[in-house]
Amino acid sequence: MKKKLIAGNWKMNGSLAANEALIKTLLAGLQTPACQVALCVPAIYLAQCQTLLSASSIDLGSQDVSEHELGAFTGEISSAMLREFGVRYALVGHSERRQYHLESDAAVALKAQRALAGGVTPIVCVGETLAEREAGRTEDVVRRQLAAVIHSNGHCISEIVVAYEPVWAIGTGKTATTDQAQQVHAVLRAQLNAASPLADRIQILYGGSMNAANAAQLLAQPDIDGGLVGGASLKAADFLSIIASVH
Ligand code: PGA
Repeated sequence: MKKKLIAGNWKMNGSLAANEALIKTLLAGLQTPACQVALCVPAIYLAQCQTLLSASSIDLGSQDVSEHELGAFTGEISSAMLREFGVRYALVGHSERRQYHLESDAAVALKAQRALAGGVTPIVCVGETLAEREAGRTEDVVRRQLAAVIHSNGHCISEIVVAYEPVWAIGTGKTATTDQAQQVHAVLRAQLNAASPLADRIQILYGGSMNAANAAQLLAQPDIDGGLVGGASLKAADFLSIIASVH
């Protein structure tokens, strides 16, 4: 059976001092975790976090990766560069990137492709806005977002991680109910299974106001294979208790 994955997404938070304190507290409190654990940190702190996490069971992740291999793309970071800093995961297509940086489904698919080619596992984020949910379009939207990635990644699709993050639940304190989350996860699971005979190994994470109080119930759903945790990953006690709720 595949292990669950709990990935923290620090977003644009942290400082040299705060990162060190947070990671030291996490490592001190982390008994042998029953799941995989990762931290997706701001790019400028990857080197610092690589050192702090070396010889630990926590993997390092970035929050984005370039869709290009190398060259004249000012400000971008390639998957090969990420690998040099021990990065195992890259978030791609987070809703904040789609919204504020106008990343299209096609660009997200290219980023996933580029990450895989560079030996970095993309955590492909999909999710509907509140307006889309209210219009009854949730399944269409997430299926369309995932289809773009499946289409351009062919048989490599079994190497990705997927994160379902309803946009209306991100940073709002509103969590999808376990039934709402499980329902969408089942749709994504079926879509992945139809795309690859190896899709069973793909972890589908839930993200959106996951916290110490709601994690156990969400993680007990049959198609929820872990969590992508924003705000609660900045508090060591909360993040540790989310990790501890994985059985
Ligand atoms: P949140 O963020 O847990 O603060 O809602 C999740 C995410 O955006 O990955």
